[in-house]
Amino acid sequence: MLPRPNHDEAARQAFVTAFRGHLAANVVPGNKIAYERRAKLKFEAAQGHAPRDEHDVRRAMEADPYYQFWSAMQRRSQELMGEAVIDPTEREWPQLIERSRTSRGGTRQLKRSGSLRLDPSLVVPRYHTAVDIHLQPGGYHTDYADDDVAAGAIYDRALNIYLNGTLGPRNAFMGELLTGYFATQWPDRKPARILDMGCAIGNSTLPWIDAYPAAEVHAIDVAAPVLRYAHARARALGAAVHFSQANAERTAFATGSFDLVVSHIMLHETSRSALDRIFRECHRLLAPGGIMLHLEIPRGTTALEKFLFNWETYNNNETFGAYMTNVDLAALARNSGFRSPSLVKQRTERGPEQRLYSSETVWNILMAQR
Ligand SMILES: C[S@@+](CC[C@H](N)C(=O)[O-])C[C@H]1O[C@@H](n2cnc3c(N)ncnc32)[C@H](O)[C@@H]1O
Repeated sequence: MLPRPNHDEAARQAFVTAFRGHLAANVVPGNKIAYERRAKLKFEAAQGHAPRDEHDVRRAMEADPYYQFWSAMQRRSQELMGEAVIDPTEREWPQLIERSRTSRGGTRQLKRSGSLRLDPSLVVPRYHTAVDIHLQPGGYHTDYADDDVAAGAIYDRALNIYLNGTLGPRNAFMGELLTGYFATQWPDRKPARILDMGCAIGNSTLPWIDAYPAAEVHAIDVAAPVLRYAHARARALGAAVHFSQANAERTAFATGSFDLVVSHIMLHETSRSALDRIFRECHRLLAPGGIMLHLEIPRGTTALEKFLFNWETYNNNETFGAYMTNVDLAALARNSGFRSPSLVKQRTERGPEQRLYSSETVWNILMAQR
């Protein structure tokens, strides 16, 4: 399903990948020096106290020329990335839609077939309609044509560029990380019904099929175009996933119908009030003893790191993401009825390097048992 870039588009995609790698490796670290040696001192002189939290750091840094320079380039890299992936998608748009339609027609027979169920009456939550997330026109959810799949094609290619290819050729690394974690923690469990929330194109869903081929795997998202793409992509890759359009805050699945509910980098793209509802829904959906796992990017520990991680909120239309900065996910899960939830820091060799405004390559895994 991936659109094929022509020579110039491929060159542009390669350039923006390298550009973002350069910013991450060589330019981001200078923010710390600019902060310690200049912005912080200026702030102290003007305010009579050191920056107290990430908001104070932001006030200090937004006036600093080094930060301004990096931030402008980082923003431009996001815009360039969009341009480099949207052009080939637009050129192959009719063919992509046709491929998706054909896959829905079931012309390819799989041993066990997946499915796609869309709900045109679903109200996409405001945390997705209020802004074009990641500067992507229309975000994940907008249909610009009948049976549109463009948002999915754009996400598939852009995610790879955004994370410098660290998720592997099928963008599967996050799913592999979480399946690996689950298998290590519960080697004897073979989940029979798995739900992946906020699946987008199903890139992190497919590793669950690989790890548990006998399981019935469901995947939901609020956005129709990414789901159409996900379904066609999964079929092309020979994986049987049941995709459906639903809000993780409240789904139509029966109470207690899953023994494992997971998500991969979805929570920070919801909202603080949605989070309570999502955890309560996970609790409702799980059978007694079932497991909830949410993989998330870290949000930093020092005020400077928290400020840098929130760059996306202020400059890349992840407008609602900053709510995660100081949220105690384990405490919220406990309030939703889960037993002994904990937030695990998972260190990996591969990771979202350019997002690593801290020195550690870590992912956060919220783990809780029903
Ligand atoms: C960053 S993408 C993650 C996609 C995929 N899980 C991955 O690992 O790359 C977040 C996805 O969550 C979806 N999403 C956000 N809020 C949701 C909600 N309340 N219910 C279902 N999906 C949601 C978005 O539409 C988007 O496709």
